Amino acid sequence: MPNARIDDRNLMRLGLFMPNCSYAYSISTYKPDPEDWTFESNLRIAQAAEDAGFDFLFPVAKWQGYGGKTNYLGTSLETFTWASALLARTTTINVFSTVHVPVFHPVATAKMGATLDHIGQGRWGLNIVSGWSEHEFGMMGIKVIPHEERYRRTAAYIDILKGLWTQNGGSFNYECPWYKITGGDVSPPTIQKPHPVIANAGVSEDAKALVSRQCDWAFISPPSIAEAPAVVADIKERAQKLGRDVKCACYPFVLWRDTESEAQEEQQRILENIDRAAVDNWAHGLKIQSGSFDEFTAEMYAFGGGALPLVGCKNQVAESLKELYDGGMDGFLMVMLDYYKDTIRFKNEILPLLRKMGVRK
Ligand SMILES: Cc1cc2nc3c(=O)[nH]c(=O)nc-3n(C[C@H](O)[C@H](O)[C@H](O)COP(=O)(O)O)c2cc1C
Repeated sequence: MPNARIDDRNLMRLGLFMPNCSYAYSISTYKPDPEDWTFESNLRIAQAAEDAGFDFLFPVAKWQGYGGKTNYLGTSLETFTWASALLARTTTINVFSTVHVPVFHPVATAKMGATLDHIGQGRWGLNIVSGWSEHEFGMMGIKVIPHEERYRRTAAYIDILKGLWTQNGGSFNYECPWYKITGGDVSPPTIQKPHPVIANAGVSEDAKALVSRQCDWAFISPPSIAEAPAVVADIKERAQKLGRDVKCACYPFVLWRDTESEAQEEQQRILENIDRAAVDNWAHGLKIQSGSFDEFTAEMYAFGGGALPLVGCKNQVAESLKELYDGGMDGFLMVMLDYYKDTIRFKNEILPLLRKMGVRK
């Protein structure tokens, strides 16, 4: 029996924005476990997350770091091979990979995805990102094309994936300015029907239009709790007009201590140790090439790479998650300071509160 897809589960979905990259995700030299990017560590965290009953694991796909003292995200585990090993060593949790459209041909992605869906028996999902970093793609000789065209290519990419995953027997043909597929064939067929869960990460106008038309999940980055419901409503209304249901998840940095002031002191330690050169490189690339992080300050980038700060005592963090959930957010890709320990602490300290609030089983 395939396991439940994350969009078939009900209530608030909880996942981890996993540390498959070095210095994930504060752009700061203050990091309790700087080696948490290793596979051994990722596996330990994944198994703790599964034990806590979390719904999914989500990586970041990076090909190069952002310099500075930390070389932020510079050492990273590639997300298809990473997902393969995690799916083989877990049984219930869903695992995503992230594909940069310009890097992998869609037939290769469809084939790898079908393989991963078999390894995980229906627990694999795909986050499709259009790619924005001239720094990373420059290394490969790949040109970052203009934003609007980039998203048109991503739309074609998703059409091709869906076609390959739903039309068997070499019957799928497709032609667009970027790809020509003749007799497209991917066998074995995927376990999930009609196809594995597809997400897109981004909240620019182009991203919202794409996600509402073609994706199952929108991974978004609202700059505050107060602004989140409007972003979510916009995406969901666009989808509903097209007769579709799209779910939304954001990535909060959950940082809690016994008291609010202790949590704020911990946040301060992260900010006092900012890797300024890496923050500048990261923010510069995003500001030029992305439309999703325009309202972010250097501190927000530094604190969690653009994560939404939920800082306080355990009750405050639980209440903030509920407030976001009540505002329409279906799930959370949580960022943590010390992933393994914090996953276990979350299970023991915050999950019981969420259950009491009736938003988790
Ligand atoms: C939750 C989330 C996860 C993302 N993951 C990645 C990633 O793994 N690799 C990457 O290059 N970009 C990633 N991005 C960046 C997006 O793909 C996108 O380029 C960015 O949000 C800008 O989107 P826009 O071009 O629509 O403005 C992520 C963004 C969000 C919100």
